Amino acid sequence: MRLSCHTTTGPQVVNSIQDYRNIRSAWAREDRAVGFVPTMGALHEGHITLVREAKSRCDRVVVSIFVNPAQFAPTEDLDKYPRTMESDLALLDKEGVDVVFYPPVKEMYPSGITLDVQQQVGTFVEVKGKSHQMEGSVRPHFFRGVATVVSKLFNIVQPTRAFFGQKDGQQCSVIRSMVRDLFFPLELVIVPTVREADGLAMSSRNRYLSAEERAAAPVLFKALSAGEKYLRVRGPSTTAKEIIDVATETVKLEPRVQLEYFSLANPYTLEELQGPIGDDGAIFSGAVKVGKTRIIDNILLQTNVKTWATRD
Ligand code: PAF
Repeated sequence: MRLSCHTTTGPQVVNSIQDYRNIRSAWAREDRAVGFVPTMGALHEGHITLVREAKSRCDRVVVSIFVNPAQFAPTEDLDKYPRTMESDLALLDKEGVDVVFYPPVKEMYPSGITLDVQQQVGTFVEVKGKSHQMEGSVRPHFFRGVATVVSKLFNIVQPTRAFFGQKDGQQCSVIRSMVRDLFFPLELVIVPTVREADGLAMSSRNRYLSAEERAAAPVLFKALSAGEKYLRVRGPSTTAKEIIDVATETVKLEPRVQLEYFSLANPYTLEELQGPIGDDGAIFSGAVKVGKTRIIDNILLQTNVKTWATRD
């Protein structure tokens, strides 16, 4: 679906970089603070929370909707990724978003883009040291795709503040390093994960779950919480392995779910912890497969999201 640059009501939908730059220049002349929420569409309450946070802290709000091919492997679900532009626009309209940046693939990848990394041409951004572990161990080129598209979007949108959800914890950490290393002049804001009543973290992929799978999916958050509780009860000498063992046992109680990994890492360096949790606290992350759908989640242990969001 290609929507025109001007709409009479609701957010202005902009398809081209040049059209957006004209709007951005006018905002710069008016000295407006611009909040940016990058998304791949299929919006849910988690995204809306980011938009509300951006609204409360900025004069203008831009949401991008772009399903980024570079972060999908050839074996993954790029074609099947949910595309729900009309309902997304209706939601963003209600929130008073100013601009929806909705570019076609050729606008974002002037050199073209193929999913096979060996065949790709053009410029890519890689954050070494934070992209190979956790999600990167299962999806080796994922964060290269994310860092590449987010740096393009930052260069286009030129936000004062950019808003990301804690649910994608490793993504937040990768972007934080990228902002620092490439000197993007913006503030990164990380917003706590929004959950369903039973604890399941909100995600666009949850809509793939059948009723039976949906009932099983909260076990990931239950497992992370069980690990957290064990640490609280057993105290500071508890080791990373003990916490992970508790979480693993919890997942095993749910036969409809297959564990991919648990990771207990330093929240700043993402280095895997071996013994007890140190002064920095930890990010406790996991991924499971429920049927064909991957679910990821994380919680911070002994550190809070504000400290984590602002420290390198
Ligand atoms: O978190 C997402 O939805 C995506 O990874 C992002 C940041 C929009 C980049 O494509």
